[in-house]
Amino acid sequence: MNIKYNVTTKPQQKPQDESNLGFGKIFTDHMFIINYNPQDGWHNGRIEPLGDLCLHPASPVFHYAQEIFEGAKAYRRPDGQIQTFRLEENCRRMNRSAIRAAMPPLDEDFQYEAIHRLIDLDRDWVPHSEGTSLYLRPTMIADGKSLGANSATEFIYFVICAPSGAYYAGGMKPVRIRIEERYARAVKGGMGSAKTGGNYTASFKATKEAQDAGFDQVLWLDGRTQTCVEEVGAMNMFFVLDGKVVTADLGDTILPGITRKSVIHLAKAKGYTVEERKIPLEELLEAHANGKLQEAFGSGTAAVISPVGELNYDGKPYIINNNEIGPVTMDFYNTLTNIQFAKAEDPYNWTDIVKEYER
Ligand code: PLP
Ligand code: COI
Repeated sequence: MNIKYNVTTKPQQKPQDESNLGFGKIFTDHMFIINYNPQDGWHNGRIEPLGDLCLHPASPVFHYAQEIFEGAKAYRRPDGQIQTFRLEENCRRMNRSAIRAAMPPLDEDFQYEAIHRLIDLDRDWVPHSEGTSLYLRPTMIADGKSLGANSATEFIYFVICAPSGAYYAGGMKPVRIRIEERYARAVKGGMGSAKTGGNYTASFKATKEAQDAGFDQVLWLDGRTQTCVEEVGAMNMFFVLDGKVVTADLGDTILPGITRKSVIHLAKAKGYTVEERKIPLEELLEAHANGKLQEAFGSGTAAVISPVGELNYDGKPYIINNNEIGPVTMDFYNTLTNIQFAKAEDPYNWTDIVKEYER
């Protein structure tokens, strides 16, 4: 499959002030887009000026939320080049989500090349300031026109890019998390491990209520018994429990985070005992009471490593590490971001430089 280029004749002004990019609010000049239908399969892959999509109001994406997406980043290296981090993992997860959502997979090497070509064309948009990056949002939606409650037969895959700063407006500072016991995000056999828009819709009401009450996010409990902690709205959770690094095991209710996988790898390399298992809320609260809950942090592409300063359950605050960034959290943040930004060696081959492609 080849990729056609239609380069804009009207490039936009790039943000002058990188200190206030926000997250996912400014977009680059181009997008990648490719269509699918049963006769031609995936076809007409092209990079073109970023623009609106034109969809029929009966397009199934509007009615049945048949949609999946990914989140990845491109980082500016000290030598001025640009690199991606474990992007092949995002392409693989995209296809796992596609299969769960009854959508057609798109060749992973092709996804990877399309994304690298798009970053290459918009490379001047990758910001330079500390902590900033180019956020990449590959997305697949159902297209066509049919109100029948069945999978669509036509689809669109596209990728847009957003120069971004910190996901949490406060930057790298401990967040306050409410443990959610009234609503559920995912249940066994459902879509929780797929990166599909509906999972986020399911979490918005609880998140808004938590934010209105002064919290940053909610921590979800397992949907069936609501006794074990699972993950946060946009990140996986880690706890430092009596010196061990503990995270919820994967199943069909948790997003298998690429940052999570990287933290587990780093933790083992640093000599920590790592436990991937069910984490009863009761155990966490007891560990807090006994001083054994030493640190908590979230991991995610957008959130990076995000220290948790407070878990709030049933109106009661459980303050962690004095509401300060703990040494283990800081160490993972530094090790991970040093690899992502090429400030340290990449012993695991997780990063790839974006080459200059012929067009
Ligand atoms: N869990 C949820 C629900 C997420 O939205 C994300 C973000 O992508 C993560 C976990 C972390 O995944 P990753 O590290 O691949 O970004
Ligand atoms: C990411 O970290 O890439 C995500 O997808 C989180 C997003 C929902 C803001």
